[in-house]
Amino acid sequence: MRMPLIAGNWKMNGSLALVEQFGQAFAEAALSPSVEVCLIPPFPYLAAVQSALGGTPVSHGAQTLNPEPSGAHTGEVSAAMLAEFGVRYVLVGHSERRSLCREGDADVLARTQAALEGGLTPVLCVGETLEQREAGRTEAVVLGQVEAVFDALAAESRQRLVIAYEPVWAIGTGRTATPEQAQAVHAAIRRRLAAYAPELGEAARLLYGGSMKADNAAELLAQPDIDGGLVGGASLKVDDFLAICQSAG
Ligand code: G3P
Repeated sequence: MRMPLIAGNWKMNGSLALVEQFGQAFAEAALSPSVEVCLIPPFPYLAAVQSALGGTPVSHGAQTLNPEPSGAHTGEVSAAMLAEFGVRYVLVGHSERRSLCREGDADVLARTQAALEGGLTPVLCVGETLEQREAGRTEAVVLGQVEAVFDALAAESRQRLVIAYEPVWAIGTGRTATPEQAQAVHAAIRRRLAAYAPELGEAARLLYGGSMKADNAAELLAQPDIDGGLVGGASLKVDDFLAICQSAG
């Protein structure tokens, strides 16, 4: 049985006031023990989030990391630094970094390996553009991004990853993939993982991201191969994010 995971990716948003608001809300919320929840703030808020969420079951994560352990990488952070702040999950390969920071598959693999070596759990983000979908290349693109990382990992490392399918055309657009569209891609990813090892296909947690909202989360999360959500905009609103968490329970 895969435990659902709802992760909120704040991207370059948030404030200390919002951290406090979420800390208060999670302290008071009756979160289901069968749903895992994680907040992924910008780096400057990691210590405040760690403190605000202490004593709640909610974990926290990071939006990226540098693959090097240390050195002359101005503005970057390492896995060890994230681990010092109790980070559990770290996004790798988010489409905004693939496009804005020109991170290719090799960069994503290096960041995945650094996260694993640092004791963090990578959340591998994959997804196609609208052009690729309209050209019928969705599975080829998505499975290619999965294989670029999984082909290079040892079996025990593969089992530690979470995958987030985020169709690029649904991110931040309010145009959510239909449950059927999302389920079809999740099922294809699960079949591909099962080809590495049947138990990997069965156990892997596959999150959906791309305009998941309080009013569509339940239908998406009801799909057999959708094990949670990677939520952007709706994770900045306490009530909406709590509603999505409750939809998963
Ligand atoms: O990482 C999650 C994000 O890409 C989804 O954003 O605003 O479409 O929920 P949003």
